[in-house]
Amino acid sequence: MTELRLRVNGATTVLSLPPQVSLLDALREHLGLTGTKKGCDQGACGACTVLADGVRINSCLALAVQYDGAEITTVEGLDDPLQEAFVRHDGLQCGYCTPGQLCSAIGMLGEHRSGAPSAVTADVSAPRAELTDAEIRERMSGNLCRCGAYNGIVDAIREVAA
Ligand code: FES
Repeated sequence: MTELRLRVNGATTVLSLPPQVSLLDALREHLGLTGTKKGCDQGACGACTVLADGVRINSCLALAVQYDGAEITTVEGLDDPLQEAFVRHDGLQCGYCTPGQLCSAIGMLGEHRSGAPSAVTADVSAPRAELTDAEIRERMSGNLCRCGAYNGIVDAIREVAA
C-alpha cells in the first residue's frame, strides 16, 4: 500500500492504496466521485477526462500515486460558463460522455490560450486568437460521443471561446 494525499476539487484526502490503482478508480471507488465516467478504461474514449493542475488527462491511464499533491478537478468541481453553453446548444444527449467532454474542453481552451499548436494549426498559419471549428474538432478528437452530439459540443465551445 502507498499513502498519498489526493487533492480533489479543493479538498484533500489521505488515502492508502495499492500503487497500481488508477486515478479514475481512486476517484470513483475510494472518493465516491462517480461523475467521472469509465468507458473503455484504456485511453480511447475520453469519458474519464479530468484536469490535473489545469491539464486534461485520461484518468484511466494515470496511476493515482502519480498525482500525490496535484490539484485534481473533476466535473463535480466545475463552475464554468461552458456547462450552461452545453445545455443551450444541446451538447449532450445521454450525458455519459459529458463530464469528460467538459473537462477536456476546459483544458483544451487553456491549451489554446497558452498558444499550444494543434495538428490543424501546425500546418496552417491561422491566427492564434481564432479557434476554428476544425481546430475545436481536432483538439476534442480524444473525446467520443456515441449519441453524436458533436455539433452542439462544437457550438458550445465556440461560444465560450469567443
Ligand atoms: Fe479513460 Fe476511456 S475510460 S479513455
